[in-house]
Amino acid sequence: MQKKIVANWKMYLTLSQSVALAKRISNLKSQISNLAVVLCPSFVALEEVGKAIKNRGVKLGAQDVFCCAKEGAFTGEVGIDDLRELGVKYVLVGHSERRQHFHETDAQVNQKLKMVIKAGLRPILCVGESVEIRKRGEECGYVAKQVKAGIKGVPKQKLDKLLIAYEPIWAIGTGRADTPEDASEMQGWIRKVIGSARVPILYGGSVNSKNAVAFLRADNVDGLLIGGASTKSAEFMKILRKVC
Ligand code: PGA
Repeated sequence: MQKKIVANWKMYLTLSQSVALAKRISNLKSQISNLAVVLCPSFVALEEVGKAIKNRGVKLGAQDVFCCAKEGAFTGEVGIDDLRELGVKYVLVGHSERRQHFHETDAQVNQKLKMVIKAGLRPILCVGESVEIRKRGEECGYVAKQVKAGIKGVPKQKLDKLLIAYEPIWAIGTGRADTPEDASEMQGWIRKVIGSARVPILYGGSVNSKNAVAFLRADNVDGLLIGGASTKSAEFMKILRKVC
Protein backbone atom coordinates (compact mmCIF):
# COMPACT_ATOMS: atom_id res chain seq x y z
CA MET A 1 0.00 0.00 0.00
CA GLN A 2 1.37 3.43 -0.97
CA LYS A 3 2.14 5.44 2.18
CA LYS A 4 -0.05 8.49 2.64
CA ILE A 5 1.01 11.79 4.13
CA VAL A 6 -1.93 14.05 4.94
CA ALA A 7 -1.22 17.64 5.98
CA ASN A 8 -3.89 19.23 8.18
CA TRP A 9 -3.22 22.97 8.13
CA LYS A 10 -6.08 23.67 10.56
CA MET A 11 -6.49 27.48 10.95
CA TYR A 12 -2.74 28.17 10.91
CA LEU A 13 -2.13 29.58 7.43
CA THR A 14 -3.64 32.49 5.49
CA LEU A 15 -4.58 32.11 1.84
CA SER A 16 -1.26 33.48 0.55
CA GLN A 17 0.77 31.40 2.99
CA SER A 18 -1.17 28.27 1.97
CA VAL A 19 -0.56 28.85 -1.72
CA ALA A 20 3.15 29.52 -1.19
CA LEU A 21 3.56 26.31 0.82
CA ALA A 22 1.50 24.28 -1.67
CA LYS A 23 3.78 25.48 -4.49
CA ARG A 24 6.89 24.46 -2.59
CA ILE A 25 5.45 21.02 -1.89
CA SER A 26 4.40 20.40 -5.47
CA ASN A 27 7.88 21.35 -6.67
CA LEU A 28 9.22 18.57 -4.48
CA LYS A 29 6.66 16.00 -5.54
CA SER A 30 8.68 14.50 -8.39
CA GLN A 31 11.33 13.50 -5.84
CA ILE A 32 8.78 11.90 -3.56
CA SER A 33 6.59 10.22 -6.15
CA ASN A 34 6.26 7.02 -4.11
CA LEU A 35 4.19 8.90 -1.50
CA ALA A 36 0.55 10.01 -1.73
CA VAL A 37 0.53 13.57 -0.41
CA VAL A 38 -2.76 15.25 0.53
CA LEU A 39 -3.02 18.90 1.58
CA CYS A 40 -5.98 20.05 3.71
CA PRO A 41 -5.98 23.87 3.78
CA SER A 42 -8.80 26.00 5.19
CA PHE A 43 -11.97 26.21 3.11
CA VAL A 44 -11.08 29.67 1.78
CA ALA A 45 -7.71 28.45 0.49
CA LEU A 46 -9.04 25.32 -1.25
CA GLU A 47 -9.51 26.85 -4.68
CA GLU A 48 -6.09 28.51 -4.94
CA VAL A 49 -4.22 25.61 -3.35
CA GLY A 50 -6.06 23.35 -5.81
CA LYS A 51 -4.71 25.44 -8.69
CA ALA A 52 -1.19 25.42 -7.26
CA ILE A 53 -1.07 21.61 -7.06
CA LYS A 54 -3.04 20.79 -10.19
CA ASN A 55 -1.41 18.03 -12.25
CA ARG A 56 1.51 17.92 -9.84
CA GLY A 57 0.57 14.63 -8.18
CA VAL A 58 -0.47 16.25 -4.88
CA LYS A 59 -4.10 15.81 -3.83
CA LEU A 60 -6.54 18.25 -2.25
CA GLY A 61 -8.34 17.54 1.03
CA ALA A 62 -10.86 19.47 3.13
CA GLN A 63 -10.87 19.72 6.91
CA ASP A 64 -14.62 19.26 7.29
CA VAL A 65 -17.97 19.26 5.50
CA PHE A 66 -21.55 19.99 6.48
CA CYS A 67 -23.17 16.81 7.72
CA CYS A 68 -26.74 17.01 6.91
CA ALA A 69 -27.69 18.49 3.56
CA LYS A 70 -26.14 19.25 0.19
CA GLU A 71 -27.64 22.74 0.04
CA GLY A 72 -30.02 24.97 1.93
CA ALA A 73 -30.39 27.55 4.67
CA PHE A 74 -27.31 26.64 6.74
CA THR A 75 -25.44 29.90 7.24
CA GLY A 76 -21.70 29.49 7.50
CA GLU A 77 -21.57 25.84 6.45
CA VAL A 78 -19.78 24.34 3.43
CA GLY A 79 -21.47 21.57 1.47
CA ILE A 80 -20.06 18.52 -0.25
CA ASP A 81 -20.85 19.70 -3.80
CA ASP A 82 -18.76 22.83 -3.28
CA LEU A 83 -15.85 20.66 -2.19
CA ARG A 84 -16.21 18.32 -5.13
CA GLU A 85 -16.39 21.22 -7.57
CA LEU A 86 -13.11 22.55 -6.16
CA GLY A 87 -11.37 19.24 -6.84
CA VAL A 88 -11.31 17.98 -3.26
CA LYS A 89 -10.64 14.23 -3.08
CA TYR A 90 -10.37 13.64 0.68
CA VAL A 91 -12.34 15.03 3.63
CA LEU A 92 -11.39 14.82 7.31
CA VAL A 93 -14.39 13.82 9.42
CA GLY A 94 -14.61 13.77 13.19
CA HIS A 95 -11.30 15.44 13.95
CA SER A 96 -10.96 15.63 17.73
CA GLU A 97 -10.87 19.44 17.60
CA ARG A 98 -14.30 19.39 15.92
CA ARG A 99 -15.60 16.88 18.43
CA GLN A 100 -14.20 18.87 21.37
CA HIS A 101 -14.75 22.54 20.44
CA PHE A 102 -17.79 22.19 18.20
CA HIS A 103 -19.46 19.33 20.06
CA GLU A 104 -19.68 17.07 17.06
CA THR A 105 -21.32 13.79 17.97
CA ASP A 106 -20.63 10.30 16.64
CA ALA A 107 -23.97 10.50 14.84
CA GLN A 108 -22.96 13.69 12.99
CA VAL A 109 -19.57 12.23 12.17
CA ASN A 110 -21.37 9.21 10.71
CA GLN A 111 -23.60 11.49 8.60
CA LYS A 112 -20.57 13.36 7.29
CA LEU A 113 -18.78 10.16 6.44
CA LYS A 114 -21.76 8.88 4.46
CA MET A 115 -22.15 12.24 2.73
CA VAL A 116 -18.50 12.09 1.58
CA ILE A 117 -18.72 8.49 0.36
CA LYS A 118 -21.96 9.16 -1.47
CA ALA A 119 -20.30 12.04 -3.31
CA GLY A 120 -17.53 9.69 -4.46
CA LEU A 121 -14.84 11.31 -2.28
CA ARG A 122 -12.75 9.66 0.43
CA PRO A 123 -13.44 10.32 4.12
CA ILE A 124 -10.61 10.23 6.65
CA LEU A 125 -12.34 9.21 9.87
CA CYS A 126 -10.41 10.57 12.87
CA VAL A 127 -10.58 8.66 16.15
CA GLY A 128 -8.60 8.70 19.38
CA GLU A 129 -8.93 8.67 23.13
CA SER A 130 -8.40 11.34 25.79
CA VAL A 131 -5.71 11.06 28.45
CA GLU A 132 -8.32 10.16 31.07
CA ILE A 133 -9.56 7.23 29.00
CA ARG A 134 -5.99 6.08 28.42
CA LYS A 135 -5.24 6.29 32.16
CA ARG A 136 -8.25 4.09 32.87
CA GLY A 137 -6.99 1.60 30.26
CA GLU A 138 -10.21 1.89 28.29
CA GLU A 139 -8.74 3.17 25.01
CA CYS A 140 -9.37 0.04 22.92
CA GLY A 141 -13.07 -0.10 23.74
CA TYR A 142 -13.43 3.64 23.27
CA VAL A 143 -11.74 3.75 19.88
CA ALA A 144 -13.64 0.67 18.67
CA LYS A 145 -16.88 2.41 19.59
CA GLN A 146 -15.86 5.54 17.65
CA VAL A 147 -14.92 3.48 14.60
CA LYS A 148 -18.14 1.46 14.64
CA ALA A 149 -20.28 4.56 15.15
CA GLY A 150 -18.42 6.38 12.36
CA ILE A 151 -19.06 3.69 9.73
CA LYS A 152 -22.54 2.66 10.91
CA GLY A 153 -24.77 1.81 7.97
CA VAL A 154 -21.97 1.94 5.37
CA PRO A 155 -22.06 -1.18 3.17
CA LYS A 156 -18.85 -3.21 3.36
CA GLN A 157 -18.04 -2.75 -0.34
CA LYS A 158 -18.05 1.03 0.14
CA LEU A 159 -15.40 0.82 2.84
CA ASP A 160 -12.66 0.78 0.21
CA LYS A 161 -13.14 4.56 0.02
CA LEU A 162 -12.42 4.96 3.73
CA LEU A 163 -9.24 5.97 5.55
CA ILE A 164 -8.93 6.05 9.33
CA ALA A 165 -6.60 8.29 11.33
CA TYR A 166 -5.75 7.22 14.86
CA GLU A 167 -4.95 10.40 16.76
CA PRO A 168 -4.80 10.11 20.54
CA ILE A 169 -6.06 13.49 21.80
CA TRP A 170 -3.25 13.81 24.33
CA ALA A 171 -0.70 13.60 21.51
CA ILE A 172 -2.23 16.27 19.25
CA GLY A 173 -0.23 19.50 19.26
CA THR A 174 1.44 18.64 22.56
CA GLY A 175 4.86 17.51 21.38
CA ARG A 176 4.15 14.22 23.19
CA ALA A 177 3.64 11.72 20.37
CA ASP A 178 2.53 8.18 21.06
CA THR A 179 5.25 5.55 20.70
CA PRO A 180 5.36 3.78 17.32
CA GLU A 181 4.88 0.48 19.19
CA ASP A 182 1.71 1.56 20.98
CA ALA A 183 0.32 3.26 17.86
CA SER A 184 1.02 0.09 15.90
CA GLU A 185 -0.80 -2.03 18.47
CA MET A 186 -3.84 0.26 18.49
CA GLN A 187 -3.89 0.44 14.71
CA GLY A 188 -3.77 -3.37 14.52
CA TRP A 189 -6.79 -3.36 16.81
CA ILE A 190 -8.58 -0.82 14.60
CA ARG A 191 -7.88 -3.04 11.61
CA LYS A 192 -9.53 -5.95 13.42
CA VAL A 193 -12.54 -3.81 14.28
CA ILE A 194 -12.91 -2.60 10.72
CA GLY A 195 -12.41 -6.12 9.34
CA SER A 196 -10.66 -4.99 6.16
CA ALA A 197 -7.01 -5.06 5.15
CA ARG A 198 -7.66 -2.42 2.49
CA VAL A 199 -8.55 0.54 4.68
CA PRO A 200 -5.40 2.67 5.18
CA ILE A 201 -4.85 3.54 8.84
CA LEU A 202 -2.82 6.68 9.54
CA TYR A 203 -1.20 7.83 12.76
CA GLY A 204 -1.48 11.46 13.88
CA GLY A 205 -0.34 13.42 16.93
CA SER A 206 2.92 15.39 17.23
CA VAL A 207 4.51 13.80 14.18
CA ASN A 208 7.73 15.61 13.24
CA SER A 209 10.91 15.07 11.24
CA LYS A 210 12.47 13.13 14.11
CA ASN A 211 9.75 10.52 14.62
CA ALA A 212 8.02 10.25 11.22
CA VAL A 213 10.21 7.45 9.85
CA ALA A 214 9.76 5.28 12.95
CA PHE A 215 5.98 5.62 12.76
CA LEU A 216 5.88 4.75 9.08
CA ARG A 217 8.06 1.67 9.67
CA ALA A 218 5.67 0.34 12.31
CA ASP A 219 3.19 -2.40 11.39
CA ASN A 220 -0.32 -1.20 10.58
CA VAL A 221 0.79 2.40 10.04
CA ASP A 222 -0.09 3.18 6.43
CA GLY A 223 0.51 6.90 6.64
CA LEU A 224 0.62 10.02 8.77
CA LEU A 225 -1.79 12.86 9.52
CA ILE A 226 0.40 15.83 10.34
CA GLY A 227 -0.80 19.12 11.82
CA GLY A 228 1.64 21.70 13.19
CA ALA A 229 4.75 20.28 11.53
CA SER A 230 3.08 20.33 8.11
CA THR A 231 2.57 24.10 8.31
CA LYS A 232 6.28 24.83 8.67
CA SER A 233 7.86 24.66 5.26
CA ALA A 234 11.38 23.47 6.15
CA GLU A 235 10.13 20.92 8.68
CA PHE A 236 7.50 19.47 6.36
CA MET A 237 9.98 19.20 3.46
CA LYS A 238 12.35 17.41 5.80
CA ILE A 239 9.62 14.93 6.75
CA LEU A 240 8.71 14.28 3.11
CA ARG A 241 12.33 13.74 2.10
CA LYS A 242 12.98 11.41 5.02
CA VAL A 243 9.95 9.18 4.60
CA CYS A 244 9.98 8.77 0.81
P1 PGA B 1 -0.30 17.78 15.30
O1 PGA B 1 -1.82 17.63 14.83
O2 PGA B 1 0.54 17.10 14.25
O3 PGA B 1 -0.08 19.25 15.37
O4 PGA B 1 -0.19 17.09 16.62
C1 PGA B 1 -2.31 16.48 14.19
C2 PGA B 1 -3.75 16.65 13.86
O5 PGA B 1 -4.48 17.28 14.63
O6 PGA B 1 -4.22 16.17 12.83
